[in-house]
Amino acid sequence: MSSSVRTTVLPNGAKVPVLGQGTWKMGEDRRRRADEVAALRLGVDLGMTLIDTAEMYADGGSEEVVREAIGGRRDEVFLVSKVLPSNASRAGVARACEQSLKRLGTDHIELYLLHWRGGVPLAETVAAFETLKSQGKILGWGVSNFDMDDMEELASVPGGEFVQTNQVLYNLSSRGIDYDLLPRSARDGVPIMAYSPVGQGGLTRDKRLAAIGERHGATAAQIALAWTLRHPQVIAIPKAASLGHVRDNRAALDIELTEADLAELDAAFPPPKRKRPLEMG
Ligand SMILES: NC(=O)c1ccc[n+]([C@@H]2O[C@H](COP(=O)([O-])OP(=O)(O)OC[C@H]3O[C@@H](n4cnc5c(N)ncnc54)[C@H](OP(=O)(O)O)[C@@H]3O)[C@@H](O)[C@H]2O)c1
Repeated sequence: MSSSVRTTVLPNGAKVPVLGQGTWKMGEDRRRRADEVAALRLGVDLGMTLIDTAEMYADGGSEEVVREAIGGRRDEVFLVSKVLPSNASRAGVARACEQSLKRLGTDHIELYLLHWRGGVPLAETVAAFETLKSQGKILGWGVSNFDMDDMEELASVPGGEFVQTNQVLYNLSSRGIDYDLLPRSARDGVPIMAYSPVGQGGLTRDKRLAAIGERHGATAAQIALAWTLRHPQVIAIPKAASLGHVRDNRAALDIELTEADLAELDAAFPPPKRKRPLEMG
């Protein structure tokens, strides 16, 4: 049973919740596994049905945690996983995807991303993604950590127009994409997936956010998350391994930041006035 979370639409027509769940650092310690699985399951109960993982996380361990969490409810979940740049060749992508499918215990991944740019020509990786799509092993593909020039180059390779998302670092302290990448993505109808939306925990202790939070009966973390979600084409994927944080993150979606809040946030975390190189977490 899922309570409803606002959705956005990918270029291929897939409707996805704007609030999902990250899984970096999950699967690293067996003693934490039960808590991680419980947190992800609660998140799905609350409608945060998009789950982001990667072959890199805990060397596949994160995908195995996700497998356990989605057991018996695969149909409710929209899975995102990522291939490492070192596996981004034609043969490498096919092999890496097969292994991710096995670890995830599924026959398809809804969205498969290139984790960041490496040495393999983009055209080759895109061709490999398109092959996986035609085989039904992935339903769509995207990229991660791509700056403006990378997106331009992607648009110029055959099949590049099928990109479904660009997953990038986006939070109040790292908001350079407000200048260029975010407006461009919105124009192209390609949603941005915001990673580290609460600054890997750093923003949860910010006093300025806490003060705004007091006015909403919310925590600093919730204000940070509500801010990334103010844009209709941003999908945020906070990672939370504790049940309380999962509940707080879901509740953050219902916070309506006022003009005064937003102005205060702009004063504390100034928007970019010129191009800033894309930051990576
Ligand atoms: N594509 C990429 O290159 C890339 C890079 C980084 C991350 N990502 C993806 O994005 C996801 C999210 O980013 P992230 O994990 O770097 O950072 P994040 O989601 O900003 O922060 C996670 C940290 O914040 C804590 N937290 C979460 N919700 C909270 C709340 N409501 N109140 C207080 N603390 C809260 C978590 O604690 P607990 O776990 O203890 O609950 C955890 O320590 C990753 O897990 C991964 O899936 C992708």
